[in-house]
Amino acid sequence: MNSRFFYVRIYRWNPYLSLKPWFNIFPLNINDVNHLMVLDLLFFIKNNYDSTITFRRSCREGICGSCSMNINGINALACLKSFDCKFSQFLTIYPLPHMLVLKDLVCDLTNFYNQYRLIKPWLIQKKNNSKNWENLQSKLDRFSLDGLYECILCACCSASCPSYWWNYDKYLGPAILLQTYKWLIDSRDSAQKERLIFLSNSIRISKCHGITNCTKVCPKNLNPAQIINFLKYFSKINN
Ligand code: FES
Repeated sequence: MNSRFFYVRIYRWNPYLSLKPWFNIFPLNINDVNHLMVLDLLFFIKNNYDSTITFRRSCREGICGSCSMNINGINALACLKSFDCKFSQFLTIYPLPHMLVLKDLVCDLTNFYNQYRLIKPWLIQKKNNSKNWENLQSKLDRFSLDGLYECILCACCSASCPSYWWNYDKYLGPAILLQTYKWLIDSRDSAQKERLIFLSNSIRISKCHGITNCTKVCPKNLNPAQIINFLKYFSKINN
């Protein structure tokens, strides 16, 4: 029986202890954990070694976006990321980069959600739709939302973007811009003008320099970098 060990390094910080952040390193027997998802691995460590490790999760299916973290240098969802000990002896887990940390792997996403609120992420309809309460949409119009509606707001993309790191209070970042585009092109929405006026404060969008980290890390295989280019073009021709 193979009893090789591999090592999981986890970033730790506790606001109630007056300590600097530190790493905990857990040597694990490969036979116990090989081929587990990273989230299962975290549970294994929490249940067997240290119950104080804190992380977020909910659905365990890549739907809720809660378990986003930085895994071996790449932002990802822990529940979708498998780790094969055959390929590496080390696994390093940080919280999402350049976010305020509340505890261990849990970040403060208040700014991210406040920015989401700013774009009015709901259908705005001006005409009275009382007869047609069903918000009908053609197949083609519905098709245009593919590649947009799948975003689960996990913040992996925004937290991988250097422009967002340095301008997080002004620049909306890839996730929120992708959502903005979704509402802008939705044929059922009638607030296109207001949404474009909101974007005319150009720093909200222009800080994208096409680095494309966002597209590389998106766990749902979306392309926020391309969407931001569409959005820039859309807002240029309409403003
Ligand atoms: Fe919901 Fe990972 S737990 S996306």
